[in-house]
Amino acid sequence: MTAVKPAYDIEQWRRRIPLLRTQIPMNNCSQAPQMDATRVAAERYLESWNGSGMDWDAWMREVALAKAEFAKLIGARASDVAVFSSVSEAASAVASALDLSGSRRTIVVSEAEFPTIAHVWIAQEQRGARVTWAPLRDDAVDESAYDTLIDDRTALVSACHGYYMNGALQDSARIAKLARRAGAYTFVDAYQSLGTIPFDVRQLGVDFLASGNLKFLMGIPGIAFLYVRPEIVETMHPMVTGWFGRANPFAFDAKSLDWSPTASRFDTGTPPVINAYVARAGMEIISTVGTASIRAWLVELGQHLIDGGRARRLTLHGPSDMNRKTSTTAFVVDDSHHVESAMRERGVIASARGNVIRLAPHFYSTIDDVERALDILAEVVRAT
Ligand SMILES: Cc1ncc(COP(=O)(O)O)c(C=O)c1O
Repeated sequence: MTAVKPAYDIEQWRRRIPLLRTQIPMNNCSQAPQMDATRVAAERYLESWNGSGMDWDAWMREVALAKAEFAKLIGARASDVAVFSSVSEAASAVASALDLSGSRRTIVVSEAEFPTIAHVWIAQEQRGARVTWAPLRDDAVDESAYDTLIDDRTALVSACHGYYMNGALQDSARIAKLARRAGAYTFVDAYQSLGTIPFDVRQLGVDFLASGNLKFLMGIPGIAFLYVRPEIVETMHPMVTGWFGRANPFAFDAKSLDWSPTASRFDTGTPPVINAYVARAGMEIISTVGTASIRAWLVELGQHLIDGGRARRLTLHGPSDMNRKTSTTAFVVDDSHHVESAMRERGVIASARGNVIRLAPHFYSTIDDVERALDILAEVVRAT
């Protein structure tokens, strides 16, 4: 039998992740490990701050480069991207730009949204929105529901790409097409898949796509990016705004709300600079490895998780077909937080959510890592 290997030199990448000496990180759906390059990036900011006291030009350049790196990952231009501190903030800015004064007031929300996203849409009920739900069936969104839920009263459809609980994928292209046909916008939260699957926002046809950086983009908390489809950007006037959303933030004209002609009209205040340094370094790693090669390897590892879980009599949560899921595989357990800490004591970092434990390998993970994580999970489940 030929050895199954990724298309890249995995050992070379593994040497650049110090945590691998002591732990098996299977929690990339929650926080990816530190790499040499992301640490150096944070230190570059600290050095700049220490050495020059203040270097706003360099710091703003770094934020612009981070936007460009995000744009590269999704097939967009840097000018189509705004920066925030969290995905919640990005969604709130999008919500604040929706005109809900007419008959188009419905926001169609999938039950697979991370709660924060749903909360943002529900909060819009205070200004007239009506939220309807695309339901979960068999632990994945019943996508046929969109056919009847989306109509000429729909303002926006919020459908995450990957479900945070178990990685179930939604067909963003089909949903965006339905929404566009009905005259509604599409908002895609790609936090659980970006960095592991090739993306082309132009092909998908979505209006908004957001992600933070601490999961599969190898970054840290405190920064998130929002893509805005360039054809709609000039029609958007977000009420969540600030001086960085202006045509020229440095005009210091308090009385003029002149909108930037690009997606940076969604920018708000002083951006998260140190986070941008780290975010760019993390996204550069992902681009260098290549999302097509990463996806191919993660399909392999995902299949090992599904088959290995079945062989160990673990209860899978969500789809068993890798074409329908991200690299995250979830198993139902009685007390997920106990399982997470018992696994950590045995050297595997897994991620608990509700009644499931998530195993989320990434490009640097090996088949041995996956097998060991499954062995330990099965051992902990048996013991409890
Ligand atoms: C799919 C998804 N969206 C959003 C979030 C949270 O986003 P933020 O804390 O940046 O608002 C998470 C975090 O865990 C997530 O998994």
